[in-house]
Amino acid sequence: MNAPDPQPMISSRAAAPLSGTAAVPGDKSISHRALMFGALAVGETRITGLLTGEDVLRTAAAMRLLGAEIWHDADGTWHVAGRGVGGLNEPDDVLDMGNSGTAARLLCGILASHPVFAVMTGDGSLRRRPMRRVIDPLSACGAQFAAREGGRLPLSVEGARDAMPLEYRVPVPSAQVKSAILLAGLNARGATRVEEPEATRDHTENMLRHFGASVEVEPMGAGCAITLAGQPELTAADINVPGDPSSAAFPLIAALLVPGSRLTLPAVGLNPLRTGLFTTLAEMGADVAVTNRRTEGGEPVGDLVVTHGPLRAVDVPAARAPSMIDEYPILSVAAAMAGGTTRMRGLKELRVKESDRLAGTAALLSENGVKVEIDGDDLLVHGNGRIPGGGVVATHMDHRIAMAALVMGTAAAQPIRLDDVSFIDTSFPRFVALMNQAGAALRPA
Ligand code: S3P
Repeated sequence: MNAPDPQPMISSRAAAPLSGTAAVPGDKSISHRALMFGALAVGETRITGLLTGEDVLRTAAAMRLLGAEIWHDADGTWHVAGRGVGGLNEPDDVLDMGNSGTAARLLCGILASHPVFAVMTGDGSLRRRPMRRVIDPLSACGAQFAAREGGRLPLSVEGARDAMPLEYRVPVPSAQVKSAILLAGLNARGATRVEEPEATRDHTENMLRHFGASVEVEPMGAGCAITLAGQPELTAADINVPGDPSSAAFPLIAALLVPGSRLTLPAVGLNPLRTGLFTTLAEMGADVAVTNRRTEGGEPVGDLVVTHGPLRAVDVPAARAPSMIDEYPILSVAAAMAGGTTRMRGLKELRVKESDRLAGTAALLSENGVKVEIDGDDLLVHGNGRIPGGGVVATHMDHRIAMAALVMGTAAAQPIRLDDVSFIDTSFPRFVALMNQAGAALRPA
């Protein structure tokens, strides 16, 4: 349903050195939140640097159906005239969240404590993804959900009229689940408390504070406990969205792999709960310099300068997974070029992303002549400094598998072909143009 039109097959072949400056689009996690929280604030929120990928446009459409006014200027500044906490309307049509798990799960949280009836669906990928992880805890606030077998979309929700505040310990490390509970808590009387055993990205906490909510965070082992005071008046605030580190990862690793490359990626978000990939690349011996560190809109930001060089294999601990959960497909491509076996531990959550990314990453590598194994929840890549290539890769409606395949082709001996690039638009519009401008050779096959 409503999938982007499939585009012709594309091939990626050995690239010229990547050089110059490549500005990556705005952070996807922060962009969704800026539109949602702006819709819940009183006044007009102005957003610069918003990602205008398909996923975020779905969020904008949903928030409009719920009563927010959202528009943008020719210079790319977005405006949200919000309805205030508890002030959203009943949508008069189905909310179609496309490919986006973040949009769907966060919106379930918001709807759970609004006295409205809503129906939500998504594309073929999203309709396969587990929603019970939010439906079950959110039901305890008084919301009534009905979903397909296995807690899959489409679902309907009748939000609570007088929502109970929740106390919940998140069983899997998931910023989406944590955020859904906190967002339900916005329109509940009293304090909502979420414990997470492993810390995950904290954009919800940071941005709610930015809009005036009281959010307290106490460290708790490797994670934390977060307490939100219910029914705050959120006040519109300006947001400048930094470049998405998860998107930057693709041109960055292409530059590391293609001999002679030196590429600058300006204004990339460096929130410490998102930078596990950079830690891992440093351990692999990668030359990634961070310059011009600054804080923009409450988030740390820096310019990255990436220089090609040899990489060594590493053992990536499971504890690092939450801070680089979206980066394993592209890290695996880097590992294929490193000398030795890289083991990436604790990747269970990859099985429930836009596709089964554990299987998809292993298939991407083996289809292109790289030795790879799945051992329980670990992925092992046996790198030897060479990617044979020559494979035809199935995207499985997954933007990150698609981009990882195209980056792999830039460093492979034989071109790599991809069945469908259309899903790249969910997170990185103009990816192909940006890569080609930097020196890559991505062409219709
Ligand atoms: C996200 C959280 C992560 C991540 C996703 C964005 C968010 O998902 O994979 O791309 O914005 O909260 P999980 O919470 O399911 O790990």
